[in-house]
Amino acid sequence: KPVYILNGPNLNLLGKRQPEIYGRETLADVADRCAALAEDLGLTIRFHQSNHEGAIVDWVHEAREQGAAIIINPAAYTHTSVAILDALHAFEGPVLEVHISNVHKREGFRHHSYVSLRADGVIAGFGTEGYLLALRRAKTLLN
Ligand code: DQA
Repeated sequence: KPVYILNGPNLNLLGKRQPEIYGRETLADVADRCAALAEDLGLTIRFHQSNHEGAIVDWVHEAREQGAAIIINPAAYTHTSVAILDALHAFEGPVLEVHISNVHKREGFRHHSYVSLRADGVIAGFGTEGYLLALRRAKTLLN
């Protein structure tokens, strides 16, 4: 069973965008670190990013067909997307929500997450290490 690692809008600019908040590591670096850990854990990953809500919905549907686990950083869609929440409600496997920054330390509009209504676990403020922690948890939950 694969683990889908899904990333929302503007995360393609990771490392360049507000580095004081999100750090200097790029999304390609994160993908490489996830791939290395996945290999150690004996997991297959599918790492994706899109700036388009519908593309993320489509990947959730694909994960559903495969009986996968999902690690998702929905980025700004966290706070707005009923469509992504509904797609996750149609998905039966583990869902782990990751935020690089501590959203609770930031503006009030970042304190509410639609995705958290479905997520089995949430990691925020652990930097990009949050993805690796979520991958370890996915391994536990898939077994
Ligand atoms: C984010 C937090 C969101 O509020 C923001 O819109 C992002 C990234 C994070 O990883 O900390 O784009 O999900």
